Amino acid sequence: MDLGLAEVSRQRSMFREERESLVGSVLESGAFNTQNPVGFLEGKMAKLACIPVTVFSFIVFVIVFMCIGANKVEAQAPGSLPANKVEALQEIATQVGKKDWNFKVNQCNDSSWITPASSQRPLYNNSIVCNCSNTGGVCHMVSIFLKGKNLAGILPPSLVKLPNLKEIDLNRNYLSGMIPREWASMKLEFLSISTNNLSGCIDYLANITTLRALSIESNLFSGPVPPGLANLVDLEILVLNANNLTGELPVALTSLTKLRVLGISSNNFTGRIPDSIQSWKQLQILEI
Ligand SMILES: *[C@@H]1O[C@H](CO)[C@@H](O)[C@H](O)[C@H]1NC(C)=O
Ligand SMILES: *[C@@H]1O[C@H](CO)[C@@H](O)[C@H](O)[C@H]1NC(C)=O
Ligand SMILES: *[C@@H]1O[C@H](CO)[C@@H](O)[C@H](O)[C@H]1NC(C)=O
Ligand SMILES: *[C@@H]1O[C@H](CO)[C@@H](O)[C@H](O)[C@H]1NC(C)=O
Ligand SMILES: *[C@@H]1O[C@H](CO)[C@@H](O)[C@H](O)[C@H]1NC(C)=O
Ligand SMILES: *[C@@H]1O[C@H](CO)[C@@H](O)[C@H](O)[C@H]1NC(C)=O
Ligand SMILES: *[C@@H]1O[C@H](CO)[C@@H](O)[C@H](O)[C@H]1NC(C)=O
Repeated sequence: MDLGLAEVSRQRSMFREERESLVGSVLESGAFNTQNPVGFLEGKMAKLACIPVTVFSFIVFVIVFMCIGANKVEAQAPGSLPANKVEALQEIATQVGKKDWNFKVNQCNDSSWITPASSQRPLYNNSIVCNCSNTGGVCHMVSIFLKGKNLAGILPPSLVKLPNLKEIDLNRNYLSGMIPREWASMKLEFLSISTNNLSGCIDYLANITTLRALSIESNLFSGPVPPGLANLVDLEILVLNANNLTGELPVALTSLTKLRVLGISSNNFTGRIPDSIQSWKQLQILEI
């Protein structure tokens, strides 16, 4: 038994627990709920409850009328994914190693597709989120959470076939391999692939310029931090901790002026933190 390695591994797993709660609390603050149809609906219902009954029935009438109108225009059953998006989901399931998705039901409204995190199991989340309102009679996939699911596949290149995806959380699985080239063209806002067995360089991440939160911590990623990461000007959370990244931190990263959380600890960086660090004016948490 290599004691040195065991110690590193123990420290890393302790670190993971802390990190999980840290990033978890930032996320739970609600800042990254980009698309939440359920919350959206609840808000509407709460408002309706305050409207007098006559007005309410008029609204119901209008809604029913609008639904009939929509049915005439759209042949497809309202509230489901188009066939090509369901196919993409099937490919994703194969790639990621997920065997228990039931494709015989409607992915957007069947409870088997939604098992969110709970207080009993905060590190687990098995949910997809669709947006079915104002999307022209079909639904769009906006979020996939497969967190703590013991998945042993790869990062799914077919995610790129779901162009409306905003959030991906594949945290705490056994995924291996590299970041797919296809991901470079995605328009994600939230991406967490922490605590897996992923390797290779992280260059393609620098192309996802829409990102607001990115965590790749506790993997085996190597190579330098790409200077292009400085193009992710909307980044608020960047967590690179516990990998095998090397080289100097690009000075250009100081252009990420919205950063609130930055973690670069437990890597193999050389050199020094850029002098212009004071440009990170929003920074609340820094781990080096
Ligand atoms: C759903 O998609 C439509 C059309 O893109 C958009 O206008 C709307 O804001 C989205 N709804 C939610 C809750 O994100
Ligand atoms: C789910 O969607 C399908 C097809 O769009 C529909 O037939 C079914 O009634 C919906 N079920 C619920 C519970 O909303
Ligand atoms: C779990 O998934 C739901 C979607 O069903 C999402 O709204 C929520 O933010 C996720 N929670 C955590 C803690 O990841
Ligand atoms: C981790 O990935 C490497 C290849 O990068 C592979 O050899 C190894 O078996 C994987 N380990 C686990 C636990 O999946
Ligand atoms: C990523 O962006 C760089 C420069 O912005 C571009 O040269 C490269 O082709 C892009 N890579 C992919 C795979 O799209
Ligand atoms: C980390 O990277 C260095 C240099 O690229 C390499 O020699 C070493 O084997 C890597 N370590 C691990 C744990 O991957
Ligand atoms: C860190 O990098 C140096 C030089 O590239 C290398 O000799 C060393 O093995 C690396 N350490 C780890 C833990 O990978």
